[in-house]
Amino acid sequence: MTTPSSTHHLSDGTDAPLVGFGTYPLRGEEGIAAMVSALEGGYRWLDTAVNYENEVEVGEALRRSGVPREEVRVATKIPGRFHAHDLALQSLRDSAQRLGLEQIDVALIHWPNPSRGLYPQAWAALVEAQREGLVRTIGVSNFTEEHLARVVDETGVTPALNQLELHPRFPQERMRAVHERLGILTQAWSPLGKREAPFEEEAVARAAATHDVTPGQVVLRWHVQIGSMPLPKSATPSRQRENLDVTGFELTDDEVAAVSALGRQDGRLFGGDPDTHEEM
Ligand SMILES: NC(=O)c1ccc[n+]([C@@H]2O[C@H](COP(=O)([O-])OP(=O)(O)OC[C@H]3O[C@@H](n4cnc5c(N)ncnc54)[C@H](OP(=O)(O)O)[C@@H]3O)[C@@H](O)[C@H]2O)c1
Repeated sequence: MTTPSSTHHLSDGTDAPLVGFGTYPLRGEEGIAAMVSALEGGYRWLDTAVNYENEVEVGEALRRSGVPREEVRVATKIPGRFHAHDLALQSLRDSAQRLGLEQIDVALIHWPNPSRGLYPQAWAALVEAQREGLVRTIGVSNFTEEHLARVVDETGVTPALNQLELHPRFPQERMRAVHERLGILTQAWSPLGKREAPFEEEAVARAAATHDVTPGQVVLRWHVQIGSMPLPKSATPSRQRENLDVTGFELTDDEVAAVSALGRQDGRLFGGDPDTHEEM
């Protein structure tokens, strides 16, 4: 049985908590309130992106929460329209300004958009930004094994993390093995599965009853035990607390396997295959 440590250690020497907080589509005063509540409830990793149009709110929530700056890691993402080298650097500077931060804790390439072929330029810009101190941790999102190989080949620098669609209906077994081999942390977007959340599935419902927790907690605990860092989003304070409270019980190997068995080849939520789906 896996006994996960309470923290992920990234290849660049920084740490990440077991569970982070997804901020899309939290915006405006309501969004700030939800993020402040998440920070007060104990979240220490906020996931945003230029395209979520809420970096100002994330920065504001950070300041209003009163949580010491050094305790929280804010991750943002460069959108497809800024992949060209100089535009990528500009995107990072603009993000830092909107967030109100001197240094961006974590910056990722949001989608590889392979048909445009500019993601290696965006990666080179991230490597430069890290050397200059504008960004602390650099990584990618929605990269396949091929995209990872290309950026590593061209720069000699391996992304510290890759954020992927990952939930019980799409467990990403192959990419998790690739990450393990390359020393890359796997982060999970839509970790609960959104409208396809498997809360009624026997594997999840039974484990929830056995451990006296909610189905959501079973799914998030499953992430922790397979080495994935989930980024659940919730605007509801009680759910936020529930989603963070996943260290007081442990699933058996059989329970983990039963949840993984819900996986399907076509289990993606909206067909977001990074070889073909592109976002600008
Ligand atoms: N890199 C990428 O390309 C990418 C793509 C998509 C998302 N993301 C990131 O991943 C984060 C999370 O993804 P997501 O929002 O798509 O999916 P998710 O976190 O799996 O699901 C969020 C939905 O689940 C509900 N929920 C949360 N906790 C729950 C619980 N304990 N029980 C029942 N329902 C619960 C939320 O409702 P309430 O808010 O009403 O509680 C919300 O409707 C995003 O916020 C974003 O930061 C990244």
